[in-house]
Amino acid sequence: MIVKSDKEREGMRAASRVVKAALVEAEKFIKPGVTTLEIDAVVEQVIRSHGATPSSKGFHGYPNASCISVNDVVVHGIPSLQTVKDGDIVSVDITALLNGYQGDAARTFAVGTASEADIKLMDAAKAAFFAGIEYAKAGGKVGDISAAVQLYTELHGFGVVRALTGHGIGHKMHEPPEVPNYGRHGTGSPLKAGMCICVEPMITAGDWRVKVDRDGWTTRTMDGSRAAHYENTVIINGDGAEPEILTL
Ligand code: MF3
Ligand code: CO
Ligand code: CO
Repeated sequence: MIVKSDKEREGMRAASRVVKAALVEAEKFIKPGVTTLEIDAVVEQVIRSHGATPSSKGFHGYPNASCISVNDVVVHGIPSLQTVKDGDIVSVDITALLNGYQGDAARTFAVGTASEADIKLMDAAKAAFFAGIEYAKAGGKVGDISAAVQLYTELHGFGVVRALTGHGIGHKMHEPPEVPNYGRHGTGSPLKAGMCICVEPMITAGDWRVKVDRDGWTTRTMDGSRAAHYENTVIINGDGAEPEILTL
C-alpha cells in the first residue's frame, strides 16, 4: 500500500512491532532439542498476546503461525515434530495482522554453535538486504533494489533464489509490486514515497535453484546447500531520505 496518513503509518509500525517481538521470543527459545512446532507455538502465543493474528495461518491453506525452515529449506518450512540440533540454522518467517495492517519479517538463527560457513551465509543475507535498502528511495525503481541485492550476494559467492520474491504489503500480506532479489538497475515499478514493501533476500551457499516438497510448501535447495533468509517491512521515503525499517 501507499501509506499516506500518520494513522496508516502507525498501523504498519504497530503490526511490525508484534512481528519483531515474536522474532525476539523465537530466537530466545531456539536451542538444541526443541521442535519446530514448539517454536511456532511461541510465535503464535506472542502474536495473540498482542491482540494480533498470525496471517500465515490459513493463507492458501498454510497450517501454522510461522514458517520455520531448517538448513537446506529456504522458506515455507511447515512446523513439525522435527527437533533442531546443534549446528543447524533455522529461518523463522512471521507475518502478523493487527488492526487491519500487516507486518512481515524473517531471520535465520543458528542453533548452538554455528560453523564459519553458516555465519558467513547468514551475515550475507542481512548485508544483501542492506545493500538493497540503499536504493529503497522514491525516484528509484524496484530493479535498483533487486540489482543491488543480487550484486552483493553473488560477489560474495552465494546464490540468490529467483523462484520467490519480496512484495508490497499493507492491508494484505502480499500486494504489488513484486520485489525480486535479482534484476537490473533502472527497471521495474517506480518507487514512490509512502510505498510499503518487504525486501527479503533468500540466499544459498550453493546453487540458487529450489524445489518444493510433496507437501506443496517446503521449499529447499536442489543441491542440498544451506540457505538463509532476512526480511523486513519498510516504508519508502521521498526527498532522498532513508527508508523507515519497521521490523528492525
Ligand atoms: N511471510 C512470507 C513472505 O515473506 C509468506 C508466508 S506464506 C504462508 O512473503 F503461506 F506461509 F503464509
Ligand atoms: Co515473510
Ligand atoms: Co514477505
